[in-house]
Formats: sequence, structure tokens, C-alpha cells
Amino acid sequence: MTTKISSSTITDTAAAPLTRRPRRLRRSESIRTMVRETVVRPEDLIYPLFVVPPSRARVEIGSMPGVFQLRVREAVETAQRAFEAGVRAVLLFGLPETKDGIGSSSWDPTGPVQSAIEGIKRHVPAMTVIADVCLCEYTDHGHCGVIVDHDGVKDVDNDQTLPLLMKQAVSFAAAGADFVAPSDMMDGRIGAIRRALDGRGMTDVGIMAYSAKFASGFYGPFREAAESAPQFGDRRTYQMDPANGREALHEIDIDVEEGADIVMVKPALAYLDIIRQARDSFPLPIAAYNVSGEYSMVKAAAERGWIDGPRVMNEILTSIKRAGADLIITYHALEFAEAFR
Ligand code: PBG
Repeated sequence: MTTKISSSTITDTAAAPLTRRPRRLRRSESIRTMVRETVVRPEDLIYPLFVVPPSRARVEIGSMPGVFQLRVREAVETAQRAFEAGVRAVLLFGLPETKDGIGSSSWDPTGPVQSAIEGIKRHVPAMTVIADVCLCEYTDHGHCGVIVDHDGVKDVDNDQTLPLLMKQAVSFAAAGADFVAPSDMMDGRIGAIRRALDGRGMTDVGIMAYSAKFASGFYGPFREAAESAPQFGDRRTYQMDPANGREALHEIDIDVEEGADIVMVKPALAYLDIIRQARDSFPLPIAAYNVSGEYSMVKAAAERGWIDGPRVMNEILTSIKRAGADLIITYHALEFAEAFR
């Protein structure tokens, strides 16, 4: 059957004002899915795990519901479960048995991170294992480097810290880490670690650099989880001023020059503009760290019934990816991936 259209109808239609109706693309879930610009996949997520020595127990972090301090075997099981849900990378933090002024337990080959790397690589070989490189979990003063006293003012010495970070990174690489992720914010550490790895033939081990890491109030719950709060002062002489956007690009630029394979912006939510600028300025993969405080705020508000937790989780992860992040480090990874399937 053909429908007859009179010439007058066509003329009328052509003369009529065009309808501007963006809502046509929102009419059904099928159409919305078809035109959706940004989709977060479990493969985009990196799951952080806190590993404790065998002497300790599996404990839930008070300020981070659903996040646990895990012994090696539990970390391996969690990695297995995350892999089955589609997560392809974990980021390991360690809580050592002992701490000292220089964080020497961080390069103990039998330390919690080294043991977890070996365990995960043995039991879940396809999982990408990234090891966080920093001294603050391993020093008794809780700072990310060596403390020096300049006329009564204590500070973290940059160049005395570099060899310690190199030792730690090499130790994690020797245990089988695919990537090391320096989060200390010392100048020159990417080049120093790259040279240390290359000098030992570890040219396949990558570096995910915490390039633009800001001195943020959003790290509070992490410091409970990692038992890494500074015992005096704060981290503002090494982590970035939250006010500085151009400086973030400068920091990323330096890390790219020094051989970073992946660069990171951290935290994520208050820094979406930085993520976008990084994406527009550099061809390397951009990671964003959806940090502990961002996670805890969602969990706390959801617990009170003030927001819909899973819905807000989706919206947040989508916003970080939309801003330009290729990879998102997030404590929501397992929950998101298991809901995704
Ligand atoms: C260690 C480190 C921190 C985080 C990752 N690596 C804490 C800090 O710098 O104090 C924060 C992660 C989070 O808050 O989720 N330097």
C-alpha cells in the first residue's frame, strides 16, 4: 500500500518550523543505550587491595564498608573473584610487620606485597598486578620519604628517598609485578625507577606514575586502611596544591619524559578538569584514582538512606570516564563488576 501525500501537504511541512527535540533520543531504554556515549566496563577498573602479614586477621576498614585488610590467601581469593567478574588489574598496598625510619621492610622479599604478587601471579596468572611504591606504609613517621632536619624544620629529603624507592620497586618487580606505581611524589623518581628496572633487565615491567597527586583531604579513610597517617606535619611539601591545574600538566609532562607508561590524576572527582586536560594533552593512557574519601562519602550517605548508593556509584564512575580517564582505580571495582554482569 502506498500512502498518498498531496503536494500541498509537502509544501506545508517544508514551510513549518523544524522541531528541535533532543528528547527523541531519550524515549526508550533501547534508544538511550544506542546513543550512550560513555560506558564503563569492568576492564576499565583497577581494584586496590590492602595486604597484611600472616600474624594479622582479615579486618573491615571502619570508614570503608566493604573494604578489608586481607592476608595473602584472602587477597588471592579476592583477586580471583574480581577476575571472574571481569576486573583485569589489582593495585596492591602493604601493611608490614615492622616499621623504621627508612621503610626498609618494603623491600623484604617475604613482605605482604611481595607474597601477594607471587600468590596472585600463581593462582590468577592473567590478572595484571600493580604494586604501589611508596614508603609511608613502611616508615614509623608515616611520611613518604627520608626525614631530614633543616634548622629545626623537618622535611622529606628528595634525593635520599630515591634509592629507597628504587629498591622497593625492584623488589616488587622481582616478585613478579607487571607494573609498579610510584605514589610518593618525589621529583625524578620515575626516571630513577626506570633506570633501576632497566639496569636489572626488567624492561618489561611498566610504570604507572601517580603524576598529578594532590595533597587532599580525601585520603583520610585510606590512611586508616593502610595505617600510614603522617605522625607530624602533612604532605604539602611533596603532594600538589589542589589549586594548581597547569602545574599538574607540568608534572605529567616530566613523568612522560622520564618514561612513565601510564600517568595518573588523583583524586578524581574534584579534579575532573585535570583529567580532561591530561586526556587532551597526552597520548598515553590516563588513569584516575577514585580515592578512599570519595568512596566513603557514597557509602556513608547510602547507609543513611540519603542517596541510592549503586546509582551514584555508576554516575561517578561514568563521570570519571567521560572526563577522559581510560582507567579508574576504585574501591567500587568488585561491586561494579559483579553488578555489571
Ligand atoms: C601513599 C598513597 C596514598 C593513597 C595512595 N597511595 C595516601 C597518601 O598519599 O596519603 C591514597 C589512596 C586513597 O585515598 O584511596 N602515598
